[in-house]
Amino acid sequence: MKENIILIGYMGSGKTTVGQALADKLSYQFLDTDAYIEEEQNTTISHIFEEYGEEYFRNIETKTIENMEININHNIVSTGGGLPLRECNGAILKKMGFVVFLSVKKETVLKRLEGDTQRPLLQGNHVEQNVEEMLNFRNPIYEYTAHIKVEVDNKTVEEITEEICRNYQIMIKQDEKNEGGVEE
Ligand code: S3P
Repeated sequence: MKENIILIGYMGSGKTTVGQALADKLSYQFLDTDAYIEEEQNTTISHIFEEYGEEYFRNIETKTIENMEININHNIVSTGGGLPLRECNGAILKKMGFVVFLSVKKETVLKRLEGDTQRPLLQGNHVEQNVEEMLNFRNPIYEYTAHIKVEVDNKTVEEITEEICRNYQIMIKQDEKNEGGVEE
């Protein structure tokens, strides 16, 4: 397994905050697919959605992780909440490293993202109902894509990063054992 940690999960699950804390703890470099896309495209995600539509944005996401997969080593990657929805993306993420699903409850999302204007999928009326429907649809996909699931509600950033690091170390050790072959 490549030594990177990939964070997936719904908007407001804390991927960026936890990702930065993990990067500090492990002395890894932090990457965020949304920030990467905004820099590359020289515009905002909202503008890309508005101007070219969601499908266009999803194509950029796939290209972004295809490029990252080749180049990264000792990185923490925070991904956009919809990125794992394409099956081909899920496979790329698994090749990139240890995939962690940050699982979050609807109530926490609504509290954290109240008044948000940056996320196109959380605008308009019926936000609560939309979040609930999206979580119901996406959660099984996040679970299927990840190596582990970490529940984030009512935990500190420190507790979450420790839980991830503990599991990451186990995974690395397991991997080293497997690569060493079976002892006679
Ligand atoms: C999206 C999540 C956003 C961003 C875009 C679409 C989604 O990223 O990629 O607005 O489909 O859930 P965050 O999860 O970082 O907010």
